[in-house]
Amino acid sequence: MLNKLHQLKSLIGNTPMMKLDHPRLELYAKLEGYNYSGSIKDRPAYVIMEEAIRTNKVGPDTTIIESSSGNFAIALASMCKNLDIKFIAVIDKFTNPANEALLRVLCHDVIKIMEPDETGGCLLNRIRKIRSLLIELPDAFWPNQYENPLNPKAHYEGTAMEICRDLERLDVMFIAVSSGGSVTGVSQRVKKEFPNCRTVAVDAEGSVIFGAAPRPRPIPGMGSSMRPKVLEAAKIDEVVYVNEHEVVNACNELLNDHGLFLGGSSGGAYAAALKYDYDALGVENPVAAFICADMGKVYLDNIYNADWVAQLASYEPNYNN
Ligand SMILES: Cc1ncc(COP(=O)(O)O)c(C=O)c1O
Repeated sequence: MLNKLHQLKSLIGNTPMMKLDHPRLELYAKLEGYNYSGSIKDRPAYVIMEEAIRTNKVGPDTTIIESSSGNFAIALASMCKNLDIKFIAVIDKFTNPANEALLRVLCHDVIKIMEPDETGGCLLNRIRKIRSLLIELPDAFWPNQYENPLNPKAHYEGTAMEICRDLERLDVMFIAVSSGGSVTGVSQRVKKEFPNCRTVAVDAEGSVIFGAAPRPRPIPGMGSSMRPKVLEAAKIDEVVYVNEHEVVNACNELLNDHGLFLGGSSGGAYAAALKYDYDALGVENPVAAFICADMGKVYLDNIYNADWVAQLASYEPNYNN
């Protein structure tokens, strides 16, 4: 099984770093949508699966279970299909329909939580379901991206290593946050190579990760309704919030001005890069980079749908992550 997993290694990482035209900045986009299952989450999924198989936590009869309705579930489900082992995704009623459809193709089973918990979202009920599955199923494994130190480690050794390899200088980087794995691993490693580089964590308005008040978040992928444990080791200098209108505008600008059809958090990170105060850095010709976690296809029903954008204010909230 380990040999089979290792065959996927060449399909994960070494993603392109694309230079974008900008009047004042040297601006780079790290395009993580070019990974095996289409997102940055292939990196932690691979590292977690590799360790679990190597240490016999996962064997041919194991069922992998995870609470994720987005890219992490898609990454795990794709790998489990390849390995011919079972993967159950625990999603909820706020899941993006395109993601749900994809997960129903890829997963052994999809459990959809309909009952909101005491926070108004479904995340706590999803975690409760995972805990009960762990008791019910004879041989189950929960990667638990929010607490697993291998999540940031995958970015420390992968994403960040590539950024350090591909750039000669970096003054500021913009990283959207959900589980916190990428901002934690990347900030730890990049600051070793470029000690003056600032880490800007990009969060969605309505996310509680950095202590702001919760409100509905219509765009999936970025933000969270809890503060993830893996973030404790992150080296974050600033937090920039972006709202859904900024995200939609930035995604369209990436598409129309740069020919990049990307997901919501990529637009969020780009929006943060555009509104950042570079004068405060005190450097000549700043070099900035932002991480683009996935591609635009699964956002055709929302970000790239004019009707959805028109009724954004009244759209049913998403409490996905
Ligand atoms: C589209 C998208 N952007 C950003 C992130 C944030 O990544 P992390 O979980 O490493 O904080 C995720 C995580 O699932 C994501 O799906």
